[in-house]
Amino acid sequence: MKPLVAGNWKMNGVAASVAELDAMIAGHDAASRAVVDLAICPPAVLIAAFAPRSGPIAIGGQDCHAKVSGAHTGDIAAEQLKDAGATMVIVGHSERRTDHGETDEIVRAKAEAAQRAGLVAIVCVGETEAERKSGRALYVVGTQVDGSMPASATAESLVVAYEPVWAIGTGLVPTAADVAEVHGFIRAKLVALYGPVGESVRILYGGSVKPSNAKELLSVKNVNGALVGGASLKATDFLAIAAAY
Ligand code: G3P
Repeated sequence: MKPLVAGNWKMNGVAASVAELDAMIAGHDAASRAVVDLAICPPAVLIAAFAPRSGPIAIGGQDCHAKVSGAHTGDIAAEQLKDAGATMVIVGHSERRTDHGETDEIVRAKAEAAQRAGLVAIVCVGETEAERKSGRALYVVGTQVDGSMPASATAESLVVAYEPVWAIGTGLVPTAADVAEVHGFIRAKLVALYGPVGESVRILYGGSVKPSNAKELLSVKNVNGALVGGASLKATDFLAIAAAY
């Protein structure tokens, strides 16, 4: 399956940051396009400016509301992201789960809303440091997968991102063996949920992915790409990670 390297800019970037996007577009040449899909998820205010020029790099949102429209001040519907030019959206990022109290049920509703709007839903799961230390990582990730995944999926409409919370922005990464264990576990869950389609859903690893560790992390079995935070803000770093393929 073709891997996906997606950049999550979080609450970073202004209109002038389009220069980084342009450098990424220039660097994602035919040889790179043949082996890896790239996406950037900028803050929502930049989507409409980025999407028309993004060419080979898909543009995504970082969150969506579960409803199509209505009295939800500050929220953005999946349909509005689509209208602005996004083709995918991250849902259930741990920062949304923590900062905004998003439960598995809410994440699942958002993932289904994204699919209904025709967006790829990138659903995030991952354990905290305390959960890993107490030996509950697989239990926690399994519960999140069971509760957060949309009712149906195709290889084109769903991507899962495993992001251990303790690895996000810390420079810490799990061992290749731990990544392999969790990704294999998620793969088995996806097959149980969706049948053979579960084999073709991409599972991304996220959490302190850098040019220096990308090759090792991205060569682990059942790792089908990366969800990159800090290192996706600079074109040189982001392209160096993609070059692991
Ligand atoms: O969604 C990506 C993210 O949470 C990982 O962030 O900065 O550790 O690559 P970072």
